[in-house]
Amino acid sequence: MPALVLLGAQWGDEGKGKATDLLGGSVDYVVRYQGGNNAGHTVVVGDQKYALHLLPSGILSPGCTPVIGNGVVVDPSVLFSELNGLNERGVDTSKLLISGNAHIITPYNVTVDKVTERFLGKRKIGTTGRGIGPTYADKINRVGIRVQDLYDESILTQKVEAALDGKNQLLTKVFNRRAIETDQIVEELLTYAEKLRPYVADTVLVLNKALDDDKVVLFEGGQGTLLDIDHGTYPFVTSSNPTAGGACTGSGVGPTKISRVIGILKAYTTRVGAGPFPTELLDEDGEALRRIGGERGVTTGRDRRCGWFDAPIARYATRVNGLTDFFLTKLDVLTGWDEIPVCVAYEIDGKRVEELPYSQTDFHHAKPIYENLPGWSEDITKAKTFADLPKNAQAYVKALEDMSGAPISAIGVGPGRDETIEINSFLR
Ligand code: GDP
Ligand code: IMO
Ligand code: MG
Repeated sequence: MPALVLLGAQWGDEGKGKATDLLGGSVDYVVRYQGGNNAGHTVVVGDQKYALHLLPSGILSPGCTPVIGNGVVVDPSVLFSELNGLNERGVDTSKLLISGNAHIITPYNVTVDKVTERFLGKRKIGTTGRGIGPTYADKINRVGIRVQDLYDESILTQKVEAALDGKNQLLTKVFNRRAIETDQIVEELLTYAEKLRPYVADTVLVLNKALDDDKVVLFEGGQGTLLDIDHGTYPFVTSSNPTAGGACTGSGVGPTKISRVIGILKAYTTRVGAGPFPTELLDEDGEALRRIGGERGVTTGRDRRCGWFDAPIARYATRVNGLTDFFLTKLDVLTGWDEIPVCVAYEIDGKRVEELPYSQTDFHHAKPIYENLPGWSEDITKAKTFADLPKNAQAYVKALEDMSGAPISAIGVGPGRDETIEINSFLR
């Protein structure tokens, strides 16, 4: 099994960090291929809890080489504070590799993210404010700064100048802010150059050689399918491609090398930030899911919006990612409800619709059609096998599997590594 992808099937925060960490012990490389420090991946190892934002979760597995691919946007100040934090806790980070083609989140990208959101007012996206959108915009506009640009001061100065030209017009004339000086930015960026040097590599070559040598490469997605710039609930999305195809463009590994695509799927639904969410619960049940599930953002500390499981979303994730299997997480959070509603289809303008509508207007109007599944009250956090689960919990998992279009190969019953039920040899 040469390359596999692990990604979020919903709106992020499905438990990708835990799933990556579980596989980390049996893979050689863990690669982030998109996004940046907008991600917040929690890994619980024994009594230790780690929150990773930019670094691949595989960094916690000693045998694994963590890689930041070309598709990632890197904020150097965040990178070094995350590395220092891990080093202080005794984690060896020396194997990290960073693509020279990855783009840098500069201080002006962070400023533009924040002022743009403020300017949008009630129409804001609710971004993480980490400069993600503006950095990808610069990349696409061909005025981005790449890691390799730090090693040629003259080119770096020209590029920063070009990037700031238009932005300073905008900042001073539209947003009423002070202009940003090229020299100040160049000076700050150059302070990172030598510190970054030991990590910078031709990651495309490294990963493809590793695959030629039968090494196992795991791609760890940030965000989730419905936050994808192409396939998500645009414009309420992030600015990259968390979906499976992004693993190829964001790493330089071809699709023929990928043999497995795992969708991480929460047993209910959450989302952070603005945008449509058909099964959102604004009542006591939503409050209970948030409380029991600890649904508070790892990156921004914002409360996550919570709702019931949405089967059309899971089917859509199966389709756009070509999922081979699911890891169903946080089943334990649903313990205690008499009945658990599951959205099986939508009603849109009086009509029953089975699949996620491609039209934004329709999705905004979609009302969930629920099927109520019987709940369970027994504690499931100690369950080790599928048979250990109460009958109703088994039936809930089976029902979700039937509706979602791919087999469920593991179930999470708690945040810890061992709080996992492997059903279809997830760790194969
Ligand atoms: P990610 O962004 O997809 O990595 O997910 P987050 O780390 O943002 O959010 C998932 C949260 O759920 C974290 O606090 C995890 O420790 C926790 N978690 C993961 N799997 C399970 C599970 O099966 N049960 C419970 N109760 N918590 C889980
Ligand atoms: P992980 O990897 C959940 C959301 C933001 C906002 C939108 C755009 O932990 O699952 P951005 O800063 O990316 O431009 O914000 O995307 N968002 C996430 N939501 N989990 C994440 O990451 C997210 N990363 C971004 O809340 O709605
Ligand atoms: Mg998260």
